[in-house]
Amino acid sequence: MGSNIYSSKNKLNDLTGSEWKFSTKSVINKAYPINMQHKLRSQHGGQKPPQLCEDIIKIFTKKGMIVLDPFMGVGGSLLGASLCDRKAIGIDITEKWIDIYKQVSELEKLEIQQTYCGDSFKVLNKIEDESVDFILTDVPYWNMDALEKTRNKTVKQSKLNNFENNSEGQSKKDWLNNMKKILGKASKKLKKGKYMAVFIGDMYRDSEYHCLSGELALKLSEIDGLTMKANLIWEDNSKSLHVFGYPAAYVPSMIHQNILIFRRD
Ligand SMILES: C[S@@+](CC[C@H](N)C(=O)[O-])C[C@H]1O[C@@H](n2cnc3c(N)ncnc32)[C@H](O)[C@@H]1O
Repeated sequence: MGSNIYSSKNKLNDLTGSEWKFSTKSVINKAYPINMQHKLRSQHGGQKPPQLCEDIIKIFTKKGMIVLDPFMGVGGSLLGASLCDRKAIGIDITEKWIDIYKQVSELEKLEIQQTYCGDSFKVLNKIEDESVDFILTDVPYWNMDALEKTRNKTVKQSKLNNFENNSEGQSKKDWLNNMKKILGKASKKLKKGKYMAVFIGDMYRDSEYHCLSGELALKLSEIDGLTMKANLIWEDNSKSLHVFGYPAAYVPSMIHQNILIFRRD
């Protein structure tokens, strides 16, 4: 361990001893480039850096293994898989995001991975149980703003931010239960002993901090056969600081997201 040698006993990934040691850091603070057709992908608004996804995929898989993302958006995880010669399967409920992913792959001359358009809860039935090596996903955020707008009926549905369309108008409890339902089904697609990584950002709204990472971690821990193994922090260097509370109150600048790691027993 700590050497530049790759152990033939390594069942998890293709990392050398020293790379493995580095990969156990619970904070990811590497600055990821704003590249890979960023402007096109940023139409989504929740896109993740493909190279960050690549780094995570390389920790939990070997070359040629299969990664599943049931909430692929414009495909940060699928692009990450292509960058390191893994296979991937992505699902999104919105065709536009899948089309952008395919366009980006073509422009970047990367393999176009397998995609399905539809509600993951149904589409996951098409994927064989215990057939994938890793799940890397970024859940549709609980859209509190949309919930309030829907309740007040002050804004037409078409004007609401559409990138999280499946969570609009949901209470936090419904959102958590829906995530458990879909990721519970997705976890059955994992081979035994394999991992699932879930991006989730906390929220500060109406003078209150919502620790969504903690709430989601507890909810997903209820899934049969899944055990939580880590709670990584990704420091997103592209985010700017703000002074919303100044000079009277403390309001955090949300420059991090959590990556919850689970293992299928
Ligand atoms: C946070 S975004 C993922 C962003 C992605 N990581 C990327 O790099 O673009 C979550 C995605 O889940 C999709 N989604 C929401 N509910 C869904 C469902 N029931 N089935 C499939 N996709 C869904 C949304 O359309 C959205 O694109």
